[in-house]
Amino acid sequence: MTKRKGWNPQSWVEHKAHQLPTYPDQRELQRVVEQLSQRPALVHPFEILKLKQGLTEAGQGLRFIVHAGECAERFIDCQSEAITEKMRILLQLSLLAVHGLKKPVLAIGRIAGQFGKPRSEEFETRGDVSLPSYRGDIINGFEFSPVARRPDPHRMLDAYQCACATMNWMRAMGECGFSEITSVRRWGLNGHHPSSGLMEEISEKLEETVALLANWGGGGSLSAFLAKHPIFTSHEALLLPYEAALSRYSEEHNSYFNLGTHFLWLGERTKHLDGAHVEYLRGIGNPIGIKVGPSTRPDELCQLIQVLNPENEWGKICVITRLGHQKVGEVLPHLIQAVKCEALNVTWSCDPMHGNIVRMSDGIKTRYFDSIKSEVLQSQRIHQNQGTWLGGVHLEITADDVTECVGGEVGVSESQLGLNYRSYCDPRLNYLQSLELMNHICDDHKRSTQREVAGAAQVTPMDHEDTSRRIQF
Ligand code: PEP
Ligand code: CO
Repeated sequence: MTKRKGWNPQSWVEHKAHQLPTYPDQRELQRVVEQLSQRPALVHPFEILKLKQGLTEAGQGLRFIVHAGECAERFIDCQSEAITEKMRILLQLSLLAVHGLKKPVLAIGRIAGQFGKPRSEEFETRGDVSLPSYRGDIINGFEFSPVARRPDPHRMLDAYQCACATMNWMRAMGECGFSEITSVRRWGLNGHHPSSGLMEEISEKLEETVALLANWGGGGSLSAFLAKHPIFTSHEALLLPYEAALSRYSEEHNSYFNLGTHFLWLGERTKHLDGAHVEYLRGIGNPIGIKVGPSTRPDELCQLIQVLNPENEWGKICVITRLGHQKVGEVLPHLIQAVKCEALNVTWSCDPMHGNIVRMSDGIKTRYFDSIKSEVLQSQRIHQNQGTWLGGVHLEITADDVTECVGGEVGVSESQLGLNYRSYCDPRLNYLQSLELMNHICDDHKRSTQREVAGAAQVTPMDHEDTSRRIQF
């Protein structure tokens, strides 16, 4: 990608910005931004280019993206154990996807910078007190008090520090932390005994994939695997002063990159064509996700893609649809057809979380496992019918045994929601629900490929079954 005309890291300031806080002290904000812009970058442009290559492959049907993590990271959770757990579930989901889809995987965490949240409600009201909504640790505090809820620019420095420490631990763990194949075995199911048939099945699949890695030549070392296939980082491009301060020019590539993370996405609430977020994102060389809700018109999506990727580069745009299980069937085919009609090169992903939020009668937010599953499986089928490849999923998950989403085989019932509801923002799939969902995605893929194979006389079922031996990591 080349430098964009009329763009610089601050050009967004001239555009209408949605979802940005108003800092009470503008001079303090400037001082913080100045400091941040002097700090070292967190990632290297070459890593970003490697990710783009992976996204290109996912766009062309050769790879699958497992993009997952917290709805909102918290500073208090910036601890080695918690980070290791997040890596572990991402890796296990990836191994399961490798096993079931017979394709290499690209793992991207919503991690090391996912600190800012767009909010539908400007204010939160408790009793007769209304205060500004919590917008993520990078902006204000979760505590319900006027002081905590005031936007504080110094939080950006804390966010940088946490992103930096998280990234550092991820690199260290990637390098050495998973070096023994036995340590993968020890992971087991997070202390869960595979009490149900389903969990036993998942456990076996993980073991088989690990064995496959051993055959692949990494010497059975997951670290060798990770050295070649690191977990990439991502967050929503929300707080533009922070993103701009971490945008750096690379002479080698004659391009700006956001070097605070590998991948950024444009949120559903900030994707105005003439808005500040689109203006900022059109100038950086990172791959960009576009979250697409059910009210997005197909022509609007195409325009957005063209503004963000005028050179129609592969691997640059990942369209992340989040349409809801009731609307996906009606909306997704039109979006795909419009993108195909304009010959736009994109990678498709499905976020089955954000279109499926419901509020219980006591006000608690949840998501039903069956709705989440239904949206991904419908998306998979629709892409297949349209001749496109669903290149990945985008999930909100945790490695903990929380009770935030209802359902799943080892499930959580509606009455259990309050037992361990810990999210500060949206409800996440817990450890077992996450694995179960990936297992369904794989099973459904297998069923539909078998149908395809059965329908194609020249391809024998044996040819298809044999592909596991030929995965090119
Ligand atoms: C999110 O991914 O956390 C989010 C807010 O998504 P969306 O912009 O799709 O609502
Ligand atoms: Co969310």
